[in-house]
Amino acid sequence: MNKKMTITSIQKAKGVRPLVMITAYDALFAKLLEPSSDMILVGDSLNMSFAGKNDTLSATMEQMLYHTNAVCNGAKNSFVVCDMPFGTYTNKNDALHNAIRVFQETPADCVKIEGGEDKADIVRHLTSNGIAVCGHIGLLPQSVRSEGGYKVKGKSEKEKLQLIEDAKAIEKAGAFCMVIEGVKTDVATAIAKCVEVPVIGIGAGADVDGQVLVFSDMLGLFEEFTPKFVKKYMDGAALVKDAVQNYADEVVAREFPKEEHTY
Ligand code: KIV
Repeated sequence: MNKKMTITSIQKAKGVRPLVMITAYDALFAKLLEPSSDMILVGDSLNMSFAGKNDTLSATMEQMLYHTNAVCNGAKNSFVVCDMPFGTYTNKNDALHNAIRVFQETPADCVKIEGGEDKADIVRHLTSNGIAVCGHIGLLPQSVRSEGGYKVKGKSEKEKLQLIEDAKAIEKAGAFCMVIEGVKTDVATAIAKCVEVPVIGIGAGADVDGQVLVFSDMLGLFEEFTPKFVKKYMDGAALVKDAVQNYADEVVAREFPKEEHTY
């Protein structure tokens, strides 16, 4: 995945091969993740795994701009998605003003906004003003407080029909792709079939057009909790703790630094 993806190549991948999206919040990790991913998402999940908060709601525009620039510095050849934080796209004017900031103050390739049919007007306002938009439907982390928790979606026929309407509405409004989070597998599968744009799943089963994971979850670095949909590809927390304990032990025992580490 060395060639930088574009909106066109991302859309052409649908039905050909699954897309790989992963989050990053800084240049160091972005550079490590770049060779294996199609898209890097600077998710507002950074508010939890990077800033240690309980949810994503207090992430600010300034933080997203700072982290997006850091990611773009580390992964110059990646298609970078910048999450619009909570409260920055509640009306068309704010949404456009803030999305323009993303495009003018960072090299990000698109913004991501949470919401379906209810946000279609905002998606249309952004796309018709030159902003590429990745949608985000299903479980919406920015609604955690208003919904009283993280709730899997698509359990009832009513929810299923609403999700299908959500996907169709934001596609029609110009979203070039969408994330679908925390949705029953059969519903997510049906949604991927009923829209033409790629549908990238997280906790939405295998039969969608790609997958996204939060890097600190899949590397086992985030220890607070592990959602059911996360696969830990390494035990990062244990590896880091072991390495740092080794360093500490060697410092205390005066085994580090050795001759080769000194001038
Ligand atoms: O903020 C984020 O990392 C996200 C993913 C969970 C898709 O939106």
